[in-house]
Amino acid sequence: MQDRILVLGAGGQIGTDLVDTLREDYGTANVVATDLKEPTPAQKEAGPFEQLDAQDGEALLALVKKYKITQVYHLVAMLSATAEKMPMRGWNLNMDTLFTVLELAREGHLKKVYWPSSIAAFGPTTPKQNTPQHTVMDPGTVYGISKLAGELWCDYYHKKYQVDVRGLRYPGLISYKAQPGGGTTDYAVDIFHKAVANEEYQCFMGAETTLPMMYMPDAIKATIGIMEAPAEKVQLRTSYNVAAFSFNPQELYTAIKAQKPDFKMSYAVDERDAIAQGWPQSIDDSAARKHWGWQPDYSLEQMVKDMLAQLSKA
Ligand code: SER
Repeated sequence: MQDRILVLGAGGQIGTDLVDTLREDYGTANVVATDLKEPTPAQKEAGPFEQLDAQDGEALLALVKKYKITQVYHLVAMLSATAEKMPMRGWNLNMDTLFTVLELAREGHLKKVYWPSSIAAFGPTTPKQNTPQHTVMDPGTVYGISKLAGELWCDYYHKKYQVDVRGLRYPGLISYKAQPGGGTTDYAVDIFHKAVANEEYQCFMGAETTLPMMYMPDAIKATIGIMEAPAEKVQLRTSYNVAAFSFNPQELYTAIKAQKPDFKMSYAVDERDAIAQGWPQSIDDSAARKHWGWQPDYSLEQMVKDMLAQLSKA
């Protein structure tokens, strides 16, 4: 049977890139984009789009039936920095939408579910270097708590109800098609927009705050990779560590400056630096590599070159 895919949060940073790639792989008509926000003219033209509040389980079920959906990629979330400003709304959004999708799968409406976790699921006493797959997890943000709880619920639904749910702990993601919204790692995207506009960038993250990061083409490769892996290879149903490279703002600035020598950056560090201080600096993703063959393509230098080139075209 032809797989038919529904993406929740299709207008977000990951969703924008993921929908494009899924449509190349599965055919435009087989990938339904949904988002809380009204579609842009470009989204309407690109393929099937439905405006949807992912907290509305009945509306979601109606779409699953209408399009004969077999897989849902659940990308709805309130990110770390925003959720700190409205903790209960962040928790409710992140958890309610997950349960809605897991329940649809438990009831037999879906064959497969994708749900993203994050490095935010780790915490201040997690080993920061080469953070293992299995280690201390004591997240200090509402977003991180929702990711850790979500991981455990995914595992529970898999064990108890045989729901085929798969997930990744994304590092900070860098992309040019859509802006991130309200995350701690947003600086690593914002900086490129300023560099390309020949403007100075004021960085909210401390110069030496190192975080694991990944270029979006690798994140999409990992996401579709784990979803297409044979079920028996996906041995962990919480979420897999995945990694590409790590840097701090000073190192990213240096890499951009190598391409754009006049680029200037100053600092106005805010509360997002403290959130980042509680996250890992580098990630051990050997389980993902071993179990289902994950491997990134982009280095920091390749990512910087491609980001600058892509944004300069716009
Ligand atoms: N990039 C996300 C954030 O900063 C973490 O998953 O919130």
